[in-house]
Amino acid sequence: SRTVSRNADGVVTVGGLDVTALAAEFGTPAYFLDEEDFRSRCRAWKDAFGPGADVFYAGKAFLSRALVRWLNEEGLNLDVCSGGELATALAAGMPAERIALHGNNKSTEEITRAVEAGVGRIVLDSFQEIVRVAHIAERLGKRQRVQIRVTVGVEAHTHEFIATAHEDQKFGIALADGQAAEAVRRALKLDGLELIGIHSHIGSQIFDMAGFEVSARRVVQLLTEVRDEHGIELPEIDLGGGLGIAYTSDDDPREPHEIARALGDIVGKECSAAGLGVPRLSVEPGRAIVGPTAFTLYEVGTVKELEGLRTYVSVDGGMSDNIRTALYDAEYSVALVSRTSDAAPMLSRVVGKHCESGDIVVRDAFLPADVAPGDLLAVPATGAYCRSMASNYNHSLRPPVVAVKDGAARVIVRRETEEDLLRLDVG
Ligand code: LLP
Repeated sequence: SRTVSRNADGVVTVGGLDVTALAAEFGTPAYFLDEEDFRSRCRAWKDAFGPGADVFYAGKAFLSRALVRWLNEEGLNLDVCSGGELATALAAGMPAERIALHGNNKSTEEITRAVEAGVGRIVLDSFQEIVRVAHIAERLGKRQRVQIRVTVGVEAHTHEFIATAHEDQKFGIALADGQAAEAVRRALKLDGLELIGIHSHIGSQIFDMAGFEVSARRVVQLLTEVRDEHGIELPEIDLGGGLGIAYTSDDDPREPHEIARALGDIVGKECSAAGLGVPRLSVEPGRAIVGPTAFTLYEVGTVKELEGLRTYVSVDGGMSDNIRTALYDAEYSVALVSRTSDAAPMLSRVVGKHCESGDIVVRDAFLPADVAPGDLLAVPATGAYCRSMASNYNHSLRPPVVAVKDGAARVIVRRETEEDLLRLDVG
């Protein structure tokens, strides 16, 4: 977050609010999200791509009604990948025509609701889905705007679980062996569908532009084949999300304008070489917009020092509010934020309170040797894929999301309660 500093007592302040006061008011663990930072990142993406392109924020990174309103105000569109995300988007007043629906196994009910609501596009992920969406649209007397998601066959350099452009995986239709061309052929024949373009998402937490560039080139190649075979130019392409953010100082992220320029140049050049009109471009950043805008605040509960090895610092959350370390070996940093300390740095592992040893928040960190129960720790860059992947493991209560703006803090997603848990348990 851009508005973090330390006051004269050594207490970290966010947007003018000190973290000890925030902890007292909202409890820990909690996520604190800087609204102005979020909005300015939205604007940076919007401005970088300009009026000739669309930015779809990927709601899977984090979604709430307040956030949907901010997106709406900043002129972004929204990518949803489930009925729940769609319901949240509509409940918060996002115009349906600015919503895209994704997913490799959308249910009939999800598709029906999206078509009825009038979403701007459904991204078709399989041969079955081409027919399924067409039938639902026809039954409702509609013609649904769709894109076809292709796998372009590049290896994005990221964790295996979040790489999505190689062919051996569940998403999309391969460009290889004429599969995608066949999908286009079938989609063009169906009255319920208006095929508006091709979609490619190569993966997530990517720093290397090369993968995006290959993806753009191959998508334009398909547009050229479609023109040659059918005599039509599909008007849109979407190159997905995936731009990496800095979790630790080793990471060196690209700025939105660098992405916009690189993608715009390639698409422009390839299209002019092929004699194609330049299609309208869209992208779907999630992490790059929301990731850096929030941090998680924890309270230290116990400290266990293993002489000559490391110190285990246990906090009051863990893998239930941030599964990314356990799941992807993700790296985070951590800081003591409730006071300053002159104590020597000690090799620490920040762990949660869950019943397994893989419950690690920050694998290796240097914290002052006098870290003690009651201290507050902050883990930055937890805005993306932390609250949205939070669980109730061990019947823990998912933490609140608190928006901070202009020196004021307000809850946008409240903390779960034991009543919430028991309400679901109807046995
Ligand atoms: N578009 C599509 C079709 C996607 O599947 C995704 C992410 C995005 C856009 C947004 O990608 P982003 O800009 O946020 O990288 N849980 C993992 C990340 C999974 C990403 C899934 N798809 C993590 O915590 O790293």
